[in-house]
This record gives sequence, structure tokens and C-alpha cells, in this order.
Amino acid sequence: MPTSVRKAVIPAAGLGTRFLPASKAQPKEMVPVVDKPAIQYVVEEAVRASLTDILVITGRGKRSLEDHFDRTPELEWELERKGKHAELKQMQAIAEMAVMHFVRQAQAKGLGHAVGMARQHIGEESFAVMLGDDVMDEKSRVLEEMIAVHGRHGSSVVALKKVDPSEISSYGCVRAEPAGEDNLVVIKEIVEKPAPENAPSNLAVMGRYVFNAGLFQALDGVRPGSGGEIQLTDAIGLLTEDETVHGYVFEKGRYDIGNKLGYLIATVELALEREDVGPEFRAFLAELARREGLV
Ligand code: G1P
Repeated sequence: MPTSVRKAVIPAAGLGTRFLPASKAQPKEMVPVVDKPAIQYVVEEAVRASLTDILVITGRGKRSLEDHFDRTPELEWELERKGKHAELKQMQAIAEMAVMHFVRQAQAKGLGHAVGMARQHIGEESFAVMLGDDVMDEKSRVLEEMIAVHGRHGSSVVALKKVDPSEISSYGCVRAEPAGEDNLVVIKEIVEKPAPENAPSNLAVMGRYVFNAGLFQALDGVRPGSGGEIQLTDAIGLLTEDETVHGYVFEKGRYDIGNKLGYLIATVELALEREDVGPEFRAFLAELARREGLV
């Protein structure tokens, strides 16, 4: 039974059409939240969960992702020369926090297809998939908990969160039964982006998954589905036919930066948590709220 998970796969090949014009000439994964590119939050979350082998699925126009996690001798030299030691350490730490790998998805054929690009790198190991549109609060232990469930049961595990029924058509959606453990369910059915009237529940798939290598065989059997794409959700559906797939249900600590409002909320809340800018920003927001007649 697989017990440890070492590798994470971060699909980052999408065109980012929901984030135009910011994503026109730069990857949406590089759009900063406060002062860090979105993908750095995801990599830091992986590292907190002891995943230090990270494969990013990229594509055309995504070279800056590789540069961001690489050493930058000219910049480092300049920071050293100027005595900016804190910044220097920070830049070096970004390049050293994990072993980064990159593989390109030549054609955008869907999330399932993107994850399938990881097959050779993953081999027979269990692995995590982390979607960059979901940013988790630093205190969130969702990924650790999912890995622990995988360690106990050997099952694939999908992160789930209740959403308002009006929002379910933006997500994968499951029908599930209790698994006899806190926060844990067994997934019986999963559908990608159902119309609200067809949704089996309001439990939505969030962008964190832990899979057995068996996922790749399941992906082989997936035909184009929702949006004409090879959907990861459909591969999970095939897995549920042969084995137990768990859902880990959580409530707090997730930001959806894949849409503009979610991005704004994430920026404000994460800025408030920061030690450097947080206190002054809080005072500014209080003053703004008064000025706007919100309080
Ligand atoms: C993807 C998945 C969907 C999941 C969502 C979570 O959709 O296909 O099942 O609920 O991520 O963010 P996307 O948002 O990439 O369209």
C-alpha cells in the first residue's frame, strides 16, 4: 500500500482567458497576489506538505515560470553589492525550496490531458495534483490531511467544499456517501460542471488531488467530455468504478484566484495577514470603509 507522496504536479499550460488582459503576454500563474506570483503560493504549499519534487506542466509563453524558480546570478550579485541581504536570501530560497521539473503540453487538450503529461515523471508513485487557480491560506492543512488519508487507505483523494448551488456549474461536482471518518466521504459519482438542475449535490471539487499511479490508466480511457476536453473529472469517474475514491471535505482557507472577484478577495485577505504591510493596510481599509459609508 502506498504510504508516502513526494511528487506534485501543477498544471500551468492554460491560456488564462479568464484573466485577460493581465494574462495576455504573461502566464496567469505569474500574476502577483500581494507581491508573489500565484504559482509561488502553490509551490510553497507543496513544500509545507513535504512535497519537494514538483513537475509543472507548461506550454508556449510560459518560460517565465522556469525563470522564476531558477537562480538569477546577475540579480543576486546586484543585491549582494547593495547590501540587500534579506532580499538576496529570499531570491535564493525561491530557487532552492524544491526540485522543479517542467514539461510542455504541446496542445491544450484539457486538464486530464495536461496531467497525463506527467506519466513518465511520476512512474508508479502516488502523487498530488495542485491547480493554480486555488490558493490556500498558509495555515491550511488540507493537502497534508489528504496525503494522510491516502497513507491510511491507499486511496485516491479529492478535495471537496460545499458551494452555493448557483456556483456549482463552475466546478466538478460529486455524489458522495459518508466514509465513517471526520471530513471524509466516498465518491459515488462525479460530473464536470453540471447545470445546477442536474447537479447531484453542492459538493464541489477544489483543485487539490492525491492520486495513485492508476490514474494514468484511467486517463487512457477518457474521451473528450465537457468543453470537448479530456477532463480529469472523467478519469476520476472511471476510477470510482473500480476502487474507492475518497473526498476530503474542508471549509476554510481557500481562495479562488481564477476569477477577478476571487483574485481581489485573495489579495486583500492575504495582504492583511502579512506582517510587513498588514497593519498599515488594515488601518487604510478601516478608513476606506468609513469614507465609503460601509461601517
Ligand atoms: C477545474 C476542474 C474542476 C474543478 C476546478 C477547481 O476546472 O476541471 O473539476 O472543480 O478546476 O478549481 P477549471 O476551473 O480549470 O475550469
